[in-house]
Amino acid sequence: MGNPVHEDIEKILISSEEIQEKIGHLAKQITEDYRGRDLLLVGVLKGAFVFMSDLAREIDLPIDFDFMAVSSYGSSTKSSGVVRILKDLDYEITGRHVLLVEDIIDSGLTISYLLRYLEARGPATLEICSLFWKKGEQAVELDVKYPGFEIPPVFVVGYGLDFAEKYRNLPYIGILKPSAYQQTPSSG
Ligand code: IMP
Ligand code: MG
Repeated sequence: MGNPVHEDIEKILISSEEIQEKIGHLAKQITEDYRGRDLLLVGVLKGAFVFMSDLAREIDLPIDFDFMAVSSYGSSTKSSGVVRILKDLDYEITGRHVLLVEDIIDSGLTISYLLRYLEARGPATLEICSLFWKKGEQAVELDVKYPGFEIPPVFVVGYGLDFAEKYRNLPYIGILKPSAYQQTPSSG
């Protein structure tokens, strides 16, 4: 029997194959841009762990890793812009080439908060790589150097993205059936 969570998906928006192909392109560009520099990937937990793991294995350079965990207050499907840091960086980033790896940009409030937070720690360079961003939803202007897919402004799950902590291990992203929302929501 297959994983029963697949049955909660109404529609697959982006397939596993499309995601992996995009990651190959992003990683190639990152490899070219950071050659000869010391690259530090900073992942935003929990959502980015799946993407970061696949991306990192396609980047043909030595890489250091660090993670931050944040939670945005508010309802489960919209971020309020008030970001709470649940886990800070383990290491100093002063003078380092930092690439912030995010799963998805919706309002952009989470990533812009993190950019300000990291910028204050004096990295040599600081760029963003986000696998998905929602069309027309950004409340702030963002310069995403390594963008993946533009998606419609709908709530999606899979490939690291959750609803109530479920669906993160789906290899694609998709839209949930309305019946799947009859659960207690959470954030991350
Ligand atoms: P933003 O601050 O509005 O840009 O929201 C970004 C964060 O909200 C992401 O890092 C995700 O954790 C979460 N998020 C935004 N959209 C979705 C979605 O469609 N599905 C699951 N999580 C999402
Ligand atoms: Mg996230």
